[in-house]
Amino acid sequence: MTFTQERTLAAKVRADFPILHQQVNGKPLIYLDNAATSQKPKAVLEMLQNYYQGYNSNVHRGAHTLSAQATEAYEAARDKVAVFVNAANRDEIVYTRNASEAINLVAYSWGMSQLQPGDEIILTVMEHHSNLVPWQIVAQRTGSVLKFVELTETQEFDLEQFKTLISNRTKLVAVGHVSNTLGCINPVQEIIAIAHRWGAKVLLDACQSVPHMTVDAQALDCDWLVASGHKMCAPTGIGFLYGKLALLKSMPPFLGGGEMIADVFLDHSTYADLPHKFEAGTPAIAGQLPSVLRSITSPALA
Ligand SMILES: Cc1ncc(COP(=O)(O)O)c(C=O)c1O
Repeated sequence: MTFTQERTLAAKVRADFPILHQQVNGKPLIYLDNAATSQKPKAVLEMLQNYYQGYNSNVHRGAHTLSAQATEAYEAARDKVAVFVNAANRDEIVYTRNASEAINLVAYSWGMSQLQPGDEIILTVMEHHSNLVPWQIVAQRTGSVLKFVELTETQEFDLEQFKTLISNRTKLVAVGHVSNTLGCINPVQEIIAIAHRWGAKVLLDACQSVPHMTVDAQALDCDWLVASGHKMCAPTGIGFLYGKLALLKSMPPFLGGGEMIADVFLDHSTYADLPHKFEAGTPAIAGQLPSVLRSITSPALA
């Protein structure tokens, strides 16, 4: 692409983002903090407005037309996310508020129920706090032990050291796909294969990878994968957890409330099928809808 073509494309993309049509500190706004949160293109803003003006209502509950429309759009978005990460089954996609909540879901549901004193969790020193603090809490409560993969001289994942850390005491490897601090792309295919050979589960923090590259959950064979929508043009307050179906089925609920129940009695309840078992309360309905857009990045790039 020539420089002129690049400038034309950049201008087309910028035109899609109303927030960029302003001056900050006397200069046209140039926003590069997309790894923290991306800006929202017109198509997303319009979709939010259409929802609130056209069919705002609660999902899965009402017997009326608006609720049916909202539910249909909301569940269509789940199908899109399932295709986006190549899940084997749409029920493997659980909506969360963000990636942090998705990691906490796994930590509290799977970690608290499965980990025993002396079990080991392998993280890396480059993890985002979201993929560190929940495991610190789980380790404190279960007596499991945290181990850390260090960096090589070139500030990358030290695969050789990882191989010396992992053992049959390792029950979980929780690792970022692309580091938010270093930008390095971790060799997750190899990490996952090694972890599975030792019988450990793998949680992949894909927050910084899914906005930029194709991520195929089945090909990678990760057990869980988490990401946030707001880093790829969706509104804040929406993220997702992918988990292998059998594993999600075996996990106890994380939060209790409406939506996640099948039958409720005064002294006990039974739980809804996947994915609703993990989706207590009214979700961020409008926030999820932009996933149904043909392109989740700028339409100018589509
Ligand atoms: C690698 C990584 N993991 C997790 C998170 C947490 O995302 P959220 O704040 O949307 O939960 C971030 C956010 O910057 C991140 O970059």
